[in-house]
Amino acid sequence: MENFEGKVVIVNGGTSGIGAAVVKQFAARGARVHFTGRDEDKGKNVESEADGYAHFHQVDNLEREQIAGFFEELEKEEDQIDILFNNAGVISIGGGPLARVSEEDWDKLIGTNQTAIYLYMKYALQWMQKQKSGNIVNNAAILGNDKVNPMLPAYSGTKAAVVAMTQSTSLRFARQGVRVNCISPGPTVTDLSKKAYGSEEALEKASKESPRGSYADPDEIANAVRFLASDVSSYMIGAELVIDGGYSLK
Ligand SMILES: NC(=O)c1ccc[n+]([C@@H]2O[C@H](COP(=O)([O-])OP(=O)(O)OC[C@H]3O[C@@H](n4cnc5c(N)ncnc54)[C@H](OP(=O)(O)O)[C@@H]3O)[C@@H](O)[C@H]2O)c1
Repeated sequence: MENFEGKVVIVNGGTSGIGAAVVKQFAARGARVHFTGRDEDKGKNVESEADGYAHFHQVDNLEREQIAGFFEELEKEEDQIDILFNNAGVISIGGGPLARVSEEDWDKLIGTNQTAIYLYMKYALQWMQKQKSGNIVNNAAILGNDKVNPMLPAYSGTKAAVVAMTQSTSLRFARQGVRVNCISPGPTVTDLSKKAYGSEEALEKASKESPRGSYADPDEIANAVRFLASDVSSYMIGAELVIDGGYSLK
């Protein structure tokens, strides 16, 4: 098991699903993990389930000053940020063809899936630039580029933006010791996908029809995040790592 002893890891959206799996995997490998989310009960749950240091910070990413406040608070506890997993996202807001997407939902979707991703990168990069080291993994989705869905144009747009922001930022920092990559997961069994499919039964049925016969467990996605966040992937810069069990090939 690789060691992240002494590393400070930030997880944007660590209270459930893929983010919670990432919090637990890094904490179990010796990292000091600070994670955000809105739901205090879920946050405290993840803290208590983690086998290592995991600290929940209640942050609503739609309130920009709360993201700024989180990074200010972090200065009291940490001298460095080694890894940012920039993960939080929603799919159930702003679904359907564009003509049916309200402007209010559009703003919420962009605010959560794109603006917050930019803000966490912006603040973390201020630390990483000073340190001359750091590693960022953004969470996109195969629905951004690899397998678009006619009912999710707004969601797909935010995820394609995450890939483009990753590529551009990675080039800017390639000679400054900071690597930036992203993952594009395929369907993974989480609260988000249960909502997207409408019910557990519908999710289960689609899962059985996928190439492997089952959608991903969040830990399978977290494994890829650890790979990108470690030196094992040292030559990966601006990459989009697709982890989808062959879903986008069908
Ligand atoms: N599941 C999939 O099939 C799949 C596939 C491809 C990509 N993804 C991407 O993976 C990421 C994680 O999704 P998931 O599937 O793990 O879903 P999830 O279990 O619903 O987790 C979403 C996370 O985002 C946080 N979040 C959402 N809105 C927030 C806000 N306004 N402020 C702060 N935190 C917020 C949630 O925290 P709170 O509820 O505590 O606020 C939660 O920790 C998303 O970006 C999603 O697009 C998922």
